[in-house]
Amino acid sequence: MGCQMNVLDSELVVGQLRAVGYEPTADMATADVVLLNTCSVRDHAEQKVLSRLGALKKPKARKPEMVVGVIGCMAERDPDGIFGKMPHVDLVCGPGELNQVPALIEEVQANRTRAVALAQSLSRKSTPLQRALEYDSVEALDLARDPTPGQNVLQSYIRVQRGCDKFCTFCVVPFTRGPERSRPASQIVDEAWMLADRGCKEVTLLGQTVNSYVHQENGRPVRFSDLLALVNDVDGIERVRFVTSYPGDFTDDILEAMRDLPKVCEYLHIPAQSGSDAVLKRMRRQYSVGQYVDLMDRAREFVPGIAIASDFIVGFCGETQAEHDKTLDMIERCRFKNIFVFKYSPRPGTVADKRHVDDVPEDVKRRRNLELLSHQERIASTANQRLVGSSVEVLVEGFSKAALRAQEAEQTRGAEVGWRRTDQLVGRTRTDQIVVFAGPPGAIGSLATVRITAVTALTLHGALLESSPRPDRTPARLAPRTSLPVLGVV
Ligand code: SAH
Ligand code: F3S
Repeated sequence: MGCQMNVLDSELVVGQLRAVGYEPTADMATADVVLLNTCSVRDHAEQKVLSRLGALKKPKARKPEMVVGVIGCMAERDPDGIFGKMPHVDLVCGPGELNQVPALIEEVQANRTRAVALAQSLSRKSTPLQRALEYDSVEALDLARDPTPGQNVLQSYIRVQRGCDKFCTFCVVPFTRGPERSRPASQIVDEAWMLADRGCKEVTLLGQTVNSYVHQENGRPVRFSDLLALVNDVDGIERVRFVTSYPGDFTDDILEAMRDLPKVCEYLHIPAQSGSDAVLKRMRRQYSVGQYVDLMDRAREFVPGIAIASDFIVGFCGETQAEHDKTLDMIERCRFKNIFVFKYSPRPGTVADKRHVDDVPEDVKRRRNLELLSHQERIASTANQRLVGSSVEVLVEGFSKAALRAQEAEQTRGAEVGWRRTDQLVGRTRTDQIVVFAGPPGAIGSLATVRITAVTALTLHGALLESSPRPDRTPARLAPRTSLPVLGVV
């Protein structure tokens, strides 16, 4: 559950467990180990975890040797709450300790006791040496990455940074994921080469405030724009994306890199959170509406055609109608590609929860949420209309949801599933627009040119003009390693 960082963490944990002999299964009831990778950003996400855990009570009672584990942010935030409410949980492991999961499972199986690994020790106050040692152990998870041959790595995430030091007053992430630490550029680049070798064409660099990435190497700082240039040079990678950007640290050298580096996509996910300076101040966001809007203008100037996505929180403590209206104005002004809107959810331990009052009624939050979304929908539909008739480059990801549903239905009827000319494929443009079009399965994994014929606010529909079939994966382009080998470093 949760953010892209969790998707990557899950993939890496699965990789570690495969290495010791486990295989994923679709059948929870008969599994030997069930792990929930959890999110704490809103209460709703935590309630979902608790209900899934509740559903595991019976299977666990039937099969007591099953190991039930909670990993990720909720494990870090509230281990006692989890054990208290869900006594059948055997294992909790925070997001900074995931390299220990195989050992924790073994501990539960060998001793029939609970196993716990939390980073509460990884304090912001620890000495540089302690932090370095702790960081080395955390790095083991990413360094041991080894996608299973045949696993779909067409689009992959690469962690470039852990944690966050911003402490926005509403946000639990700095508490669950710890202090901000950037990974060495050489390790990130090695990982990109390894993924390219396995057929990866698009990498997304991940960080909570990815643009504030900086790592000292040989006594000089490697900035985020430098890192983009290094990843841009990896043969086989066709597209480079990055999320999530923090508006406060977004310097022009990054915009220049986006303009000049051919593989870096014209796309930014850069949460604004609110269009009111007073609210931004209560959120301790460290930038003003003026600065954010100015950044949008500069981004469009440097990178023509750039698509910008944003996040907003509605109903934050004390948000008045006038403050909410300012967010509507900002949406009108900034012409986002899409926005994610969240109703404020107080998180225990955060400044907002301790010092402010969650005083916007639920129905007002709901109304403001819908208002922002419908406003945005109008803007996006109009903007997308302008794309009709144009040709776009699409990285073809697979069959569309409708095609998959039809194939599944045919399979359950016992019919032979073959490809039909009408089968719909789905992919994304460089600007992260979803495109649906009819095409042959052979186009999956290729970069295709598609002419846009119809649009909605969220999806483009088109006709395939041409696609380059996916070349045989010829490895042997592996660059000389610039650091330790990717495998076997613990
Ligand atoms: N920089 C991070 C932000 C993590 S949280 C990233 O990688 O995206 C993702 C989004 O959830 C935030 O941008 C914010 O809009 C929303 N969010 C965070 N805390 C929240 C809370 N307490 N209530 C509602 N929404 C929240
Ligand atoms: Fe959260 Fe703000 Fe960091 S939203 S992840 S504290 S930048």
